[in-house]
Amino acid sequence: MEKKWWKESVVYQIYPRSFCDSNGDGIGDLNGIRSKLDYLQNLGINVIWLSPVYKSPNDDNGYDISDYQDIMDDFGNMEDFDALLKEAHEHGIKIVMDLVVNHTSDEHKWFIESRSSGDNSKRDYYIWREGKDGKEPNNWGSCFSGSAWEWDEKTRMYYLHCFSKKQPDLNWDNPKVRDEVFNMMTFWCNKGIDGFRMDVISMISKMDGLPDGYKPEGALYGGLENTTNGPHVHEYLQEMNKRVLSRYDIMTVGECAGVTIEEAAKYAGNHGKELNMVFQFEHTSLDHEKKYGKWTDKRFYLPDLKENLSKWQRELEGKAWNSLYWCNHDQPRIVSRLGDESPLSAKCIGTVLHFMQGTPYVYQGEELGMTNCHFGSIENYRDIEILNAYKEIVEGGYRSETEMLAAFEAKGRDNARTPMQWDATKNAGFTTGTPWIMVNPNYTEINAEAELKDKDSVFYYYKKLIELRRNSRWSDIIVYGKYELLDPDNEFVFSYTRDFEGKKILVICNVSDKEVKYKLPIDVAGAGEILISNYGDVKIQEEMVLPKWFAMAVEI
Ligand code: NOJ
Repeated sequence: MEKKWWKESVVYQIYPRSFCDSNGDGIGDLNGIRSKLDYLQNLGINVIWLSPVYKSPNDDNGYDISDYQDIMDDFGNMEDFDALLKEAHEHGIKIVMDLVVNHTSDEHKWFIESRSSGDNSKRDYYIWREGKDGKEPNNWGSCFSGSAWEWDEKTRMYYLHCFSKKQPDLNWDNPKVRDEVFNMMTFWCNKGIDGFRMDVISMISKMDGLPDGYKPEGALYGGLENTTNGPHVHEYLQEMNKRVLSRYDIMTVGECAGVTIEEAAKYAGNHGKELNMVFQFEHTSLDHEKKYGKWTDKRFYLPDLKENLSKWQRELEGKAWNSLYWCNHDQPRIVSRLGDESPLSAKCIGTVLHFMQGTPYVYQGEELGMTNCHFGSIENYRDIEILNAYKEIVEGGYRSETEMLAAFEAKGRDNARTPMQWDATKNAGFTTGTPWIMVNPNYTEINAEAELKDKDSVFYYYKKLIELRRNSRWSDIIVYGKYELLDPDNEFVFSYTRDFEGKKILVICNVSDKEVKYKLPIDVAGAGEILISNYGDVKIQEEMVLPKWFAMAVEI
């Protein structure tokens, strides 16, 4: 297997709006991030993925970009960005930018021109269609509720927006659009950035003829499956690779909704013609439901989770590279979702992920064991996905408010977006002003300052996980070793081995709040050093009693 720096890295995702506010306006900013580089260096990560910092009217918190070559006013300016990039590099930290090019903001100059008349030069930069029988061109529903089509009175046509109506989809079939995007990417690469995380990149090529999506019984709209993994997506990414990516030593990760293993091997295969790795969503969909999708408080069933994560480990082995994540700005906090919000469970769940093959991503606050927020009332939410779903489903009379609020508490994106908990002072030390979204009230107990003083904290456990991967005598096994799942049907214990050039490590995690008797399914007679455990002094034996949330990795 070819060794690469991005395979040996640990990435930390920053959602700038919620990370650190330097000027008291209640919104995180670039100078706030600069002030925390020492903290990140101490944690040991070597790459930051920065959620969008470009100019934006913030309909979807920066995922609606109105100028790709400028910085959002709330976050600072280009000089602040340049300083951040320089200082991050001085700290040994690379910066990966979010690249949001499936759509722009409706306030982007291309769209303003595109919608101004039916025959202007930018008309075909977006996806415009006539209505059908006095209605939308097809049955597609937007990811943020309602139809994926918006009627434009001026030119009397519809435009496509797979997300909010302020996020019109670009028409990638137009070579001029690709030129514009590739030029813009080159601008950032020439600045010295270190890579791109590509937002919903699997959606840039829509199926010819834009056929209706599958509409289950009782659903209001059809699905968007005919927008993902479309006929030209690989062609366009290969063009991007040739014209931009291959000219720089950067890393790329594509957010690929609806990607299967076979597709992932095309996007991120060892052939190197497209991307380095993808974010897949199979494991984060295992606690969703058929009828209501993510809007449920259903929890994971461990054997399903083990099976799924192991399938990706097994089947990409030697073919493509995995990304490893529990959390990001669209997912609820894993310590609430899979754990019981205790530090012990945070450490256990971190262990499960950080010994797998792939590049791990830590989402801001995950290293502290930050939890879901338990927002209560709808007034406390800010996310467009939640607010639109509330309007459509609750106010539309389809489901009760109680049921939907329970689902938002369990799965809502705002859980990940509450301010980073820096210390126990007002607003968790995030801002001296009024935060744009509520602070999780548990900040007085869960915060960076307290954890930095406690050698037994989640922070130091994550620091050790990262150090083991990046800088230890086990680094090769942890990064490149072959993965094998043990005991697939066990409902409580997640155990597996990693194997590299005759060396082997065993990982055992009791992913439950119960004590579990466990007979090891593997010979441990010659077991060596314990790499890490969340229970002080532990010994490896053939038969063990694993206390709740027990985790360990040991050389065997
Ligand atoms: C995926 C992003 O992660 C999410 O936050 C955003 O709302 C959509 N893409 C639209 O850009």
